[in-house]
Amino acid sequence: MSEKSGEASQNVQHSTVQTGGTTTDVVPRWNVLVVGKGGREHALVWKLKQSPRAGKVFCVPGNAGTADEGAVNVAISPLDKDRLARLCQKERIDLVVIGPEEPLAAGLADYLRAREIRVFGPSAAAAQIEASKVFAKQLMRHAYVPTAEFQVFDHPEPARLYIETRDYPVVVKADGLAGGKGVIVCRDAAEAVRAVRRIMTEEEFGAQAGRRIVVEKRLEGEEMSVLAIVSGHTLVMLPPCQDHKAVYDGDQGPNTGGMGAYCPTPRATPELLREIERNIFVPTVHALKREHRSFQGVLYAGLMLTAQGPRVLEFNCRFGDPETQPLLMRWQGDLLQLLYAAAGGELADWQAPLPFDPRPAVCVVLCSAGYPGKYETGKVIHGVAEAEALPDVKVFHAGTRRDDQGRLVTDGGRVLAVTALGDDLRHARERAYQAVRCIHFSGMHYRTDIGLKALKSLS
Ligand code: AMP
Ligand code: GLY
Repeated sequence: MSEKSGEASQNVQHSTVQTGGTTTDVVPRWNVLVVGKGGREHALVWKLKQSPRAGKVFCVPGNAGTADEGAVNVAISPLDKDRLARLCQKERIDLVVIGPEEPLAAGLADYLRAREIRVFGPSAAAAQIEASKVFAKQLMRHAYVPTAEFQVFDHPEPARLYIETRDYPVVVKADGLAGGKGVIVCRDAAEAVRAVRRIMTEEEFGAQAGRRIVVEKRLEGEEMSVLAIVSGHTLVMLPPCQDHKAVYDGDQGPNTGGMGAYCPTPRATPELLREIERNIFVPTVHALKREHRSFQGVLYAGLMLTAQGPRVLEFNCRFGDPETQPLLMRWQGDLLQLLYAAAGGELADWQAPLPFDPRPAVCVVLCSAGYPGKYETGKVIHGVAEAEALPDVKVFHAGTRRDDQGRLVTDGGRVLAVTALGDDLRHARERAYQAVRCIHFSGMHYRTDIGLKALKSLS
């Protein structure tokens, strides 16, 4: 593990911290590299830059929003480990924060750590908890972590027999990474058998991702995302969020990377969160540790709140997108210090309660026409400044760039994550949608019901 604090103090930049109007201390500044280009990475850059300890902030490859924050975008692929390591050395990077799962699964954190660079993000061995659904399910089975009953298959025929002998509906999951799309929730056995064919025979999500599948019981209930910062066997729970994965209102249509989120979820009582920490996070973190799968980063549990209690649908090894946007909208502490400590195995001093704004935040994702299928890019985006002029509104960029005339244009499926704080969920929702109505680009679509179910359940 790298020990960068000594080195950081050799870094010539320093900042002066003001406390109550008096100058008290000079703290070293840390140069930071954020890897990724989505709304999550924009939110990370935004908060990291607010730290009095922040030196230069780089983003690889970043988007128009990260550049607007003053980060230096560098056009390197997040999978190009060697160029990233050289960038870290050249720019004297003190902390690398890795956003997406692909570079984590490909061993970027290990590669950088081996070169004495401090990294917030798990090893490739630990990232298997997201990169392989078979690995995650087997780890849960061995650690008695509550999850849907399941079976693993590497051939379609036994999978078909299994499906046809269940007396409940199932979900069929490709083992490997598929951009959040390799999960098919099925109504009946015929659809499930078709799902097996799509994944294993037609290789809809790629040959590697579909080599093995998990067939598991379909669970009913409300979903919730719970994230924790993990460092070795220390973990710090973050407030729970609710994602909206389906593309259309009323949870209709195919799954996406996430169409919107809010934080916190009113369903999550302190007792429920303690149960989730005790029965899900603690045994999972210990199981990873037992297997020497080093984890410094975010462990994210996608949960279904069933009548029998919370069940894990999936684990991710990183901050969620878009959950991070409302989560960090509420964060009032020094994120850089927290992630720096976690990356260095020094998390023990950070215990709850963490400094979060008590007000809820709602995030609405604006997408390109056709997303989550094929979409066009290069559409001019209007109205972001008007939206951000509203109080307690922040527009995080995801798929955006500047064209050669300096105009803000679309550059991905998920384009913007419009996020607002409000005194309660109703206000946060109203403000977020008021901001959304300021923004326009050709073909823009979004869900109009982010947070609505929770709001109705409160009234
Ligand atoms: P995953 O990537 O495994 O979280 O799956 C994506 C989405 O599929 C989840 O957010 C759920 O909406 C749904 N899903 C996954 N597993 C199940 C399950 N066992 N029962 C019902 N829905 C599920
Ligand atoms: N919002 C779901 C995810 O980040 O995987």
